[in-house]
Amino acid sequence: MQRTIILYESRYGTTEVIAKNLSLILGPSKYCKIEDFKKSDKDFEFFVIGSPVYNEKIQLKTLKFLEDNIEWIKDKRIAVFCTCISTKKEYEYINKLLGILGSSIVYFRALGGIIQLDKLNSEDYRAIESFCNKVTMPFVDINMYDINKVIEFGIDVKNIRDEFIKRVPGTQLLKGIEEFLNAHNTCTLCTASSIGVRGTPIEYSYKDGYMYIITEGGEKFANILLNNKVSISVYDNYQSMMKLGGMQITGEASIIYNNTDEYKKILYLKEINPDSIGDFSVNMNIIKIKMRKVEFLYSKFKNMGYDIKQIYLFN
Ligand SMILES: Cc1cc2nc3c(=O)[nH]c(=O)nc-3n(C[C@H](O)[C@H](O)[C@H](O)COP(=O)(O)O)c2cc1C
Repeated sequence: MQRTIILYESRYGTTEVIAKNLSLILGPSKYCKIEDFKKSDKDFEFFVIGSPVYNEKIQLKTLKFLEDNIEWIKDKRIAVFCTCISTKKEYEYINKLLGILGSSIVYFRALGGIIQLDKLNSEDYRAIESFCNKVTMPFVDINMYDINKVIEFGIDVKNIRDEFIKRVPGTQLLKGIEEFLNAHNTCTLCTASSIGVRGTPIEYSYKDGYMYIITEGGEKFANILLNNKVSISVYDNYQSMMKLGGMQITGEASIIYNNTDEYKKILYLKEINPDSIGDFSVNMNIIKIKMRKVEFLYSKFKNMGYDIKQIYLFN
């Protein structure tokens, strides 16, 4: 599993808030002020470096840390962000870091910062006041912080980081996924729409990249009718950190109505005689889920020398 450390410095707290939020998305991870970096932190596999921009520059402490540690840090994969008001100057601001870290930087982004005048020390207050006068800008608070952009950056970094896992070969991974799904029969089907969110424990069958669920109905259909995107979990009971087994599946749900050939086929798959379905006094509905992505955390992969977390994409 690739563990991530988010190293940052922050004068007025915005970069710190960003670092904390990124750490939540990028777990297993920790956030850490650059001055609190310990030797043992070198073992982290993935690094995120965050610095505010003051007077058009990335902070000196960050630059010095990178220069002092370049020998080993250049071999890491690193994502970089700066916190600033002029996010359009992203490349200009991050250029210095690109110069130091070169191709170790796998992703970078400028994220919006905040200037709250009543929080500034007197030197910064005067600097902003004279800057605003010089460029005839109103001397007022500026808030460019956008949690959506922070999340977007976090998800992008997570996806890039996941490209570097030690992968189980595709056919072997698919076999492992299918064995796991066939060895279980109950999942949590998560649906969401403007009406609300719902996690339904329910029995399923798996075949060839699809999951099939028979159900009497209920509120999950309100969500599926409005939004067919679903997330499904299938997992072992927790035993220990050395014996983990669980997957999150992302897919699209469709409803198979009962007067179709496909409905009958699915009943056969579930070893139900279609003629017996009339014995139920209510409609039995089928949800078919086209699996798109499986994120599989499985200790057996780790024991085989691969990353414990594997990702499989279905066509
Ligand atoms: C004195 C001062 C100078 C600044 N200079 C710049 C700048 O050159 N470019 C920019 O985009 N933002 C600039 N900012 C905005 C900061 O980058 C923004 O306030 C950021 O949120 C600070 O991060 P922090 O809260 O983590 O310290 C400046 C802010 C101050 C107070």
